[in-house]
Amino acid sequence: MILPIYLYGQPILRKPTEDVGRDYPELDTLIENMFQTMYQSDGVGLAAPQVGLPIRLFVIDASPMREDFPDIECAKRAFINPRIVEVSDETVAYEEGCLSVPGIHERVIRPKSVTVRYFDREWEEHTETFDGFFARIVQHEYDHLEGHVFTDRVSPIRRQMISGKLQKIVKGKANCSYKTK
Ligand code: NI
Repeated sequence: MILPIYLYGQPILRKPTEDVGRDYPELDTLIENMFQTMYQSDGVGLAAPQVGLPIRLFVIDASPMREDFPDIECAKRAFINPRIVEVSDETVAYEEGCLSVPGIHERVIRPKSVTVRYFDREWEEHTETFDGFFARIVQHEYDHLEGHVFTDRVSPIRRQMISGKLQKIVKGKANCSYKTK
């Protein structure tokens, strides 16, 4: 099932999220729906707040980026109750976009690698270090669980320059090829 994506300006994107309980109803269906929704809108990551749910869950499938970033190994996975346990001192700038912020792409500086503890769909616990482009997506999605969007992290000058576009999204005037809310 394709879910509507909540756009910039929706309060859910700023709300704190809660851990997912092991008895969360139909969690696997939700994860499947999030993957489908992400594919349908040509995204590489999607976090639960973006589909209106204040819970600590995001999905990533970076396989479309493999051509440009051959270092991406296991590209498709779900992260349940993730916690960042370590980030590298070394940072790197990449251009980011977000399904909740259509039409805006900006350079964001983030740690180059990140270590995350999380549960997978089978409730197996992992602690893994990601690097390069995958680390970038993980951090972007993780931000959504903390009530941040990537535009919070651009330079003050750039933020000033995109404020008009952001206001357009808030007013519901964004151009989107996918279902939004
Ligand atoms: Ni996003």
